[in-house]
Amino acid sequence: MSSPRTRSNLSVADLRGLWSQAFRDIRAETERRAAPLSSEDQVVQSMPDASPTKWHRAHTTWFFEQFLLSVHHPGYRVFDERFAYLFNSYYVAAGPRYARPMRGMLTRPSAEEVGAYRGHVDAAIVDLLISADESALKKIIAVLEIGLHHEQQHQELIVTDILHAFSLNPTHPAYDAAYAAPACNQSQGVAEIVSGIHMIGDDGEGFAFDNERPQHRVFLAGARIGRSLVSNRQWLEFMADGGYATPTLWLSDGWATVQAEGWQAPGYWRQGDGAWLTMTLGGLRPVDPAAPVCHVSYYEADAFARWARKRLPSEAEWEIAARGGLLPDAFDQVWQWTQSAYSPYPGYRPAAGALGEYNGKFMVNQMVLRGSSHATPKGHARASYRNFFPPAARWQFSGLRLAEDLR
Ligand SMILES: [Fe+2]
Repeated sequence: MSSPRTRSNLSVADLRGLWSQAFRDIRAETERRAAPLSSEDQVVQSMPDASPTKWHRAHTTWFFEQFLLSVHHPGYRVFDERFAYLFNSYYVAAGPRYARPMRGMLTRPSAEEVGAYRGHVDAAIVDLLISADESALKKIIAVLEIGLHHEQQHQELIVTDILHAFSLNPTHPAYDAAYAAPACNQSQGVAEIVSGIHMIGDDGEGFAFDNERPQHRVFLAGARIGRSLVSNRQWLEFMADGGYATPTLWLSDGWATVQAEGWQAPGYWRQGDGAWLTMTLGGLRPVDPAAPVCHVSYYEADAFARWARKRLPSEAEWEIAARGGLLPDAFDQVWQWTQSAYSPYPGYRPAAGALGEYNGKFMVNQMVLRGSSHATPKGHARASYRNFFPPAARWQFSGLRLAEDLR
């Protein structure tokens, strides 16, 4: 999203109007993504990591109620006192919460009631933005902005989570019958990152999450980074060469996961009549060799890189290359695994209060992905953006590009 706050020469009235509009637009996008889904679709939770669409719609609403309206809107009437327990995700400081793996048990409130909850909170937020004291407006906008970026993260999760649910349905439902998988240009060569001191992290140009700060210097020894994403065609070569059956290509945890899960191909791939098929947002489709490989875990990405006699880029290498305009497919196709563990930057300070739980407490046992995917809302990602998932996760739109040391 664009950040009205950063535009110069805005009057207070302009700020109120622009943020009200940004709020309405992003809230509407969530509903647009939920619109193709029936009430039954919206209640299903296909695995503990995935959440029901209805829960995403309610949780993003609770976020504004909990962190904005309850704090800054004196006359606000909570829509339903029970919802904080149902729709708090992981904020310990905000009180007890319903168990994550049980979210699919919530047949009540209905999807329609969640819609009413959203409407109630939407009206109160716009009222707050219009009526808040000028002195309080800055604080309100700061939390609102986090809430909107938070909602955009859940917009992508709505799509990834329903795809997982639909992948388990033998009728292979299409979320979007007109869906077209992204295509990648596979002959873009490599870009060189020179050895030396580079700067990464939030450059202050717009919104950033706390995990992108502080901006800091890193030393890079110099590398070549692939300008193209790894394609399904390349992945099929890896498979044909016994990639999933060669333990020396795999990290120990990765090989154990391959064995335990019986992985022989990326997530959602299944053998058709002589060809691989994959479950997509458009239903079950033949694997397109020209498309970037998607739904691979960190373990698979790492094994593929070893097979190709290369490695994954570090997140710093990725960011420097992206900032330099060297990666044409950096955004809007698939998230790209990096070799970097999700850790705090030097000098990292979590945000104050309960919102400090947003990112910092997850900085262990996860790997960083960079870029964005075709399911990421427009304007959400940036060069410094740090996405993160556990190394076995593959229900996100996750792929890779390769790198190698300069010799
Ligand atoms: Fe959340």
